[in-house]
Amino acid sequence: MAKRAIAPGGRIEGEVELPGDKSISHRYALIGALSEGVSEISNYASAADCQATLQCLRGLGIAVESAQETVRIAGKGLDGLKEPRKTLDAENSGSTMRMLAGVLAGQPFTSTITGDDSLRRRPMRRIIDPLRQMGAEIKSSEGDRAPLQIRGGSLHAIDYTPPIPSAQVKSAILLAGLYADGVTTVRESVCTRDHTEIALREFGANIETSRGIVRIHPRPKLTARKLTVPSDLSTAVFLIGASLVLPGSWLVLHNIGLNPTRARVLDFLISMGAAIRIPSLQARDGELAGDVSVKHAPLEGGTISGFQVAEMIDELPILAALGPFTEKGIEIHDAQELRVKESDRIRTLAEGLRAMGAQVEEFPDGMRVAGRSAGRLHGARVDPQGDHRIAMALSVAALGAEGETTVRDAECVAVSFPEFFATLERLRGFEKK
Ligand code: S3P
Repeated sequence: MAKRAIAPGGRIEGEVELPGDKSISHRYALIGALSEGVSEISNYASAADCQATLQCLRGLGIAVESAQETVRIAGKGLDGLKEPRKTLDAENSGSTMRMLAGVLAGQPFTSTITGDDSLRRRPMRRIIDPLRQMGAEIKSSEGDRAPLQIRGGSLHAIDYTPPIPSAQVKSAILLAGLYADGVTTVRESVCTRDHTEIALREFGANIETSRGIVRIHPRPKLTARKLTVPSDLSTAVFLIGASLVLPGSWLVLHNIGLNPTRARVLDFLISMGAAIRIPSLQARDGELAGDVSVKHAPLEGGTISGFQVAEMIDELPILAALGPFTEKGIEIHDAQELRVKESDRIRTLAEGLRAMGAQVEEFPDGMRVAGRSAGRLHGARVDPQGDHRIAMALSVAALGAEGETTVRDAECVAVSFPEFFATLERLRGFEKK
């Protein structure tokens, strides 16, 4: 697989429109398929993960057309999915597998869903348990891993408190709740991203939310919608990170999703001294979006723990990679979930940053990355272990290192942000002529 050389230096200057939010794209596609009529989704994510969701829906008999970033989904209502002839492939996408499992649990047929090597290593018990409680029959590989064979049918409503805060688990239960015999309740100790609740409401579901409790009424009539996906903040943070590493940088990102359950990373960066402004903010289709402007400023450093972990779960890799560029370093605790993401993100980050000369202490549930006083990073060969967010985080750290860094299997960035390197180099004025 292709490696990528990252030359350090330069500065980020410019304005960008980024691809659509990955989490929201998955949900619009899934719920669109269960609605009646053709939904038109603009700015659908270019992320390979979201293409995997479309492919799975095609496998379930849904006609999906996509032209550039507009996707049309010919929904067939709650009972319109067909038994797939082949195993569904979620590729690298945990969201696809876990959320689709919730839908499959409500279908009167058997389906099998698998994924790539990384996804087949990730824990699925968190969805298997509640979906079995609802009445689905689920067979898994050893250790509750994928492939999952799901025999769906009529489901019972449950009142469930997931043991781990997870939007994917909450969403799987809510989607299964569409097919239940009563009102399904999910209780969360930490509020995770609420895009499923918002999207279900947009498509016409009867869903109530209050202080960490979500209730979904069964068998709504879902109706096709025309929706626009805001751009992905979890993708934007890598470019924001690059602006904070490279002195003299400025950047304006347009139409970024700023749902409060996702935007905590901006508060955290601002609390560390980052010059981030939101000059415009608007609500559309139940989601908040706005422009985000960033100017390079020195960073203080800080600690992330407790409920902040769930709020910034996808941003922890870039925050850790910014550690060596801060005054006091970055410390992360209570983040054992990072060990079961697309890679063991604590280990992969620690190894990558150490290879570049960073001082990193690894804990079972986090890490401490020393700040500037530990010395400047140097170029190195790093291996993100096929994990898109680690590849981008280490590439951003490489911008501030002395000498060139080589990132192994760098094309894995396509899982969430295929345009990452091209956008970075364009903003640095380093485009290949
Ligand atoms: C996601 C939820 C989070 C996040 C993932 C996307 C979602 O996973 O890390 O990238 O779209 O619901 P968990 O639910 O496992 O925390």
